[in-house]
Amino acid sequence: MTLREIAGVTGARLADVRDPEAPVTAPSAVDSREVAPGGLFAATAGARVDGHDYAERAVAAGAVAVLASRPVGVPALVVEDVQVALGLLARHVLGRIGPVVIGLTGSVGKTTTKDLLAQVLERHGATVATDRSFNNELGLPLTVLRADAATRYLVLEMGAGRKGDLTYLTGLAPPRVGLVLNVGSAHVERMGGGLADVAQAKGELVEALPPDGIAVLNADDPYVAAMEGRTRAGVVWYGRSARASVRAEGVRLDDRARAAFELVTPSGRAAIGLGLMGEHQVGNALAAAAVASALGLDVTDIAGGLNAARRRSGGRLEIAERPDGVTVVNDAYNANPESMRAGLRAVRALAGGRRTVAVLGAMGQQAEASRARHAEIGALVAELGFGVLIAVGEGDPRALADAARAAGQGVAVHTVADVAGAIGLAGALLEPGDVVFVKASSEIGLSACARALSGAS
Ligand SMILES: Nc1ncnc2c1ncn2[C@@H]1O[C@H](COP(=O)(O)OP(=O)(O)OP(=O)(O)O)[C@@H](O)[C@H]1O
Ligand SMILES: [Mg+2]
Repeated sequence: MTLREIAGVTGARLADVRDPEAPVTAPSAVDSREVAPGGLFAATAGARVDGHDYAERAVAAGAVAVLASRPVGVPALVVEDVQVALGLLARHVLGRIGPVVIGLTGSVGKTTTKDLLAQVLERHGATVATDRSFNNELGLPLTVLRADAATRYLVLEMGAGRKGDLTYLTGLAPPRVGLVLNVGSAHVERMGGGLADVAQAKGELVEALPPDGIAVLNADDPYVAAMEGRTRAGVVWYGRSARASVRAEGVRLDDRARAAFELVTPSGRAAIGLGLMGEHQVGNALAAAAVASALGLDVTDIAGGLNAARRRSGGRLEIAERPDGVTVVNDAYNANPESMRAGLRAVRALAGGRRTVAVLGAMGQQAEASRARHAEIGALVAELGFGVLIAVGEGDPRALADAARAAGQGVAVHTVADVAGAIGLAGALLEPGDVVFVKASSEIGLSACARALSGAS
């Protein structure tokens, strides 16, 4: 599209533009370091920096113009609200190129499942999928704007931090297929405090589907199963329960905690051996398989994609092997009770007879139940037979530590005030052969601990 056309779609005024017919030929970016030559730079104000200060740098890096809320001295499309304009542009572009849009949401596993699904679909047709966790009102339009006329499948991770978020996102990119993974306690605080509130928010995805669309639902999650009544689309079920038409039989874990099973679909069966760690990946893989199956892919193709799939996003059960025989499992990207439990179990499965050390910090946004949810994790650490627990931070992590101590089972429990304390203590405690698991909500910053323990800087 030319700058003039984009101005028409977004209601922008051109400022400092010499050639309104200059075409935009590349995706958009909000980070000047990620500008592609021929693309647009969208200047948004974050908590720490204002994109308008980077306008010149973005144009020097090849941006044709800046989508901005004020003139910036370089070619700009000036709008009232950059985020809204980006959304309007994405909506318009999507209407012109018409790929199959797949929206997926859930409390945990969106990025992991999106990566799996993309690795299945891209063997079948040109696929654009959300980068990292670009799943909000800014990341979603940026993803859409990476698609072009050759794109067959557009896989969009959709985050719901509040009621109404998915209605907004599905308005920008109306999906034909909507996948809901699970309803858990991530962001429960912001959504009203209870799982029913979370379900209300996540179900907006299936409410947005057209009558000829497909809702792909997790049959094993009662909150997700209840969404059947909120959609006009046809429903495809996946999971372990008998009603699921896409399911796993004979699930087992190898000595790297990777699951193998027989995938059952309406078009036949195939053997699956996942490259990802943890039994919880079975559900993620089934979700990806159910979407692909609903889109008409053959079970052999689906299995080929799943079996070749590898972890694409960091900080999620990312394994580093140290020369001294210590295995570091970095899951510090984020945390909530569901992913804590899945991670702890996966690490125990991976460790076999080796000693396991858990370095755990707070799980954020857990509302009134926060202390109790932390205590449950502490009890699980003890029950699973972890050798050492290092609880990082004051408050809830102390409740986690107390519960682990109270459960007995021989776990050595330590508490430290902060990340630096965790790095120091874990560094001193680790012995050759240990498996160390590092996890907390992202704002705790425990990924620095995982990096330090891995030997990276
Ligand atoms: N099905 C699952 N059940 C429980 N935990 C899971 C599941 N899938 C992934 N996880 C764990 O949850 C955490 C987050 O995974 P992932 O990034 O895939 O989720 P997400 O839904 O995209 O998160 P976000 O809302 O932060 O974007 C990781 O620790 C991962 O190992
Ligand atoms: Mg994500």
